[in-house]
Amino acid sequence: MADEALLQPATVVAVRDLTPTVRSLEILPADGILPFTPGSHIAVQVCINGRPDRRHYSLLGRPEDGCYRIAVRRMPHSRGGSIFMWDLREGDALAVSAPRNAFPLKGGGSAYLLIAGGIGITPIHAMAMALADAEAPFRLLYGVRSRSDAPFGDALATRLGNRLELVVEEEGGLIDMAAAFAPLPDNGEAYVCGPMGMLEAALAGWRAAGRPAERLRFETFGNSGHRAAQPFIVRVPDLGREIRVEANQTMLDALDAAGVEVLSDCRRGECGLCNVDVVACEGELDHRDVFLSEGQKAEGRQLCACVSRVAGGSVTIRTGYRPL
Ligand code: FES
Repeated sequence: MADEALLQPATVVAVRDLTPTVRSLEILPADGILPFTPGSHIAVQVCINGRPDRRHYSLLGRPEDGCYRIAVRRMPHSRGGSIFMWDLREGDALAVSAPRNAFPLKGGGSAYLLIAGGIGITPIHAMAMALADAEAPFRLLYGVRSRSDAPFGDALATRLGNRLELVVEEEGGLIDMAAAFAPLPDNGEAYVCGPMGMLEAALAGWRAAGRPAERLRFETFGNSGHRAAQPFIVRVPDLGREIRVEANQTMLDALDAAGVEVLSDCRRGECGLCNVDVVACEGELDHRDVFLSEGQKAEGRQLCACVSRVAGGSVTIRTGYRPL
């Protein structure tokens, strides 16, 4: 079962390159936009290899802007979603869902720490603007590869001043989570969006500092793993199937294309609905979700099919689905 949020017709009203690899799109639904809060996202219908699919994008800006504004990074090993989005031009028609917020800025803390990595800046950008408008105490740590690949870097520096710290990998910069969390008061809150390594470091640092789990909130974009994506084989003995998963394809998509039903919802490694049992694995499991615990990942008996994969070799799974 895929994301079933209703789609409505919309038009691309503006396209703008923010960096050589990140492009912003302004989208206007035929019936106008619906209210949204920082951390919200919309689903966009894309077409991949002739098949409709959906991708989720965090909303930038505010409802007062009168349109939905998103930013899309062109991924070098795109499964097709970012290529579809980068092919869109002003005036093109597409279909989008209403905004939904799975990463809300809860409020209630006496100070906030926002941490973004790469394109993870998109939901964090909206949070930073809201906190700045509310004159709330906060800092934003923004990790980027290079200064030329930092979408919104200049605009954020202008708006936030010394509340923004740009951490540039190319210049030897690395976010020190322990040092970042240390000045946060006990009831402070942290919001993190970035690649898997950044999330794992944040979770470990937060835990090591003895801070309450509910005050660290995070979101991932579910496409960054510990190993480069490569093709692998997935076997489903209960259904007598053996399916090849291409490097630019998720295991969930490959199973779906082969007619093997697996429940799913977020498709970003967060909800756990697509979790399958691992019966055997020849190769290394590359867990890319934030649903399973570190212990469960180490055991290697489960896998979130929407984002996680095998670094070469094969995996044998049980989906729990039984045909009638
Ligand atoms: S669909 Fe939500 S974790 Fe895979």
